[in-house]
Parts: sequence; C-alpha cells; structure tokens
Amino acid sequence: MGDVGANYSIRDEIREFWSERAATFDESVGHEIFSEAERAGWHQLIRKHLGDGKGRAALDLASGTGVISHLMNDMGFVVTGLDWSEAMLAQARAKAKKRKAEIRFIMRDAENTAEPRESYDVITNRHLVWTLVDAPAAFREWFELLKPGGKLLIVDGNMGRKSWVTHLRLALGGKPAHRNLAPGMSERLQRIREQVHFSGEMPAEAVVAALVATGFVEPVIDRRLGAIHWPQARKMSFWRALERLTQDRFAICVTKP
Ligand SMILES: C[S@@+](CC[C@H](N)C(=O)[O-])C[C@H]1O[C@@H](n2cnc3c(N)ncnc32)[C@H](O)[C@@H]1O
Repeated sequence: MGDVGANYSIRDEIREFWSERAATFDESVGHEIFSEAERAGWHQLIRKHLGDGKGRAALDLASGTGVISHLMNDMGFVVTGLDWSEAMLAQARAKAKKRKAEIRFIMRDAENTAEPRESYDVITNRHLVWTLVDAPAAFREWFELLKPGGKLLIVDGNMGRKSWVTHLRLALGGKPAHRNLAPGMSERLQRIREQVHFSGEMPAEAVVAALVATGFVEPVIDRRLGAIHWPQARKMSFWRALERLTQDRFAICVTKP
C-alpha cells in the first residue's frame, strides 16, 4: 500500500488495490475472455438489452483493462472507457492499440465523471456497483449523462451471499475465497468491502430500488447468464466452476425516460 496518511481515503484504497492488480488482471477467467463461445455470450447479452451499436455513444464505466469496452466496440458502438486507475487504463490502451480499435480511454471517477450531460446513448459497467462509495450519487450522475431514452446496463453479483457450493467447500476445509490473490490482498479487499455503499449483501432488487429512486424506469433483472458462465466454467477448476454457476450473478438494465 502507498503512504497511508491522514488524507488517505477509501477511494485511494480502491484505486491502489486495482492498480496493483492491473498487470495480471487479464490472466483470470471471468476477467479477460478466453473463448469465442464466451465472447458470443457477451455480445448476445449486450444486444438483448442495448441493441446493436450503429455508431451510438457508449460509456463503459470502470472499464479496467477494457474488456467490456472492446465488446461494445466490436458491436459498432463509439466507446469511451473510463477508469480512475492509470495502471488499468495503460493495459486498456495497449490492448486497443494491438487490436487497432478506436476507443477513448479517460481517467475519471465514475461517481463524478465531468462528462457532458445527456451525451451518451448507453452506459455499461461490469463489477463496479459493489465497490461504489456513494451509490446514490453515482446513479444520479449516470442518469444525467444519458440522453432521454438512453439505457444503463449493469453486470454484477451479490457476492456477499455465499452460494451453497461455497458453504460446502468451506465445510470440507477448502481455502477461503480469493485464494489466487497475492499475500495481504484478501484482507485489503475485505477492508474495502466493509467501507463501500453495498457492504455485506447486494441483492439485485436493492440496486434496482436505488436506480428507480433516481428516476430510471423499466427495470429488468436478468439472471440468464449461462451463455457467459458455462464457457467460463469450462476453463476453471472444478470448485471454481461450480461456484461460478451457483453464485447470484446478474445483469440489470434500466432506461432513462
Ligand atoms: C473488478 S475491476 C472491473 C474492470 C472491468 N469493468 C471489467 O469488468 O473487466 C474494477 C475496476 O473498477 C475501477 N473503479 C472502481 N471504482 C471506480 C470509480 N469510482 N471510478 C472509476 N473507476 C473505478 C477500478 O480501478 C477497476 O479497474
């Protein structure tokens, strides 16, 4: 960890945590995509909720190494990827250069983007909502960034709730979760979890309630993610695959009226 002074906040802690993970982030199944079957599953999910790109403006919040940004680019969206970790953005930019993909990557806070109001047709994010410090403020910001009729697609999960497989694995003396993290990182992740808005459980229904309170309409909770999770599971160890298939992972799509 960096210099932990009086001004060191939870936001610094989150940024540093992900920056330290940037170099190896894409090595994990579930982060980067390792099969065409999984890629097709993602395209199917995005198309189902957002339609084809057709040059529409997309903002991928907390884009990390740019996995979702690239999927959106494949589909013809004009994509801006936003993250506050320069190390993550460096990976995303290198990947875009290699793939000759024109994606704008910017360093910003997803809770306060400084992007023009009503300038995006769609907004996406994967694995961001659980780590928001001020979720209601973030949702207001995203509402303002969308054009009327624009859509927000969230991909996340209620990771505070252990699946029956995790309970069984732990009962059989299995290692604690996040066993692939470097020493000390599990504790740091736990400390982050305790300080964010959705600390503890994050049911999809609670996220939807907060989105609707912001003014979003037509909420859809989509748990039919098998076309993504099965190809991922095939690349995982037995226990990790079983966990992946039994965790409460979901997509949420809402519309700005
Ligand atoms: C689990 S990674 C997910 C990356 C990417 N969305 C993906 O699914 O491959 C979480 C990312 O969120 C970023 N992040 C967390 N909070 C953020 C915030 N408030 N603003 C911008 N980026 C944020 C981190 O820097 C990190 O890149």
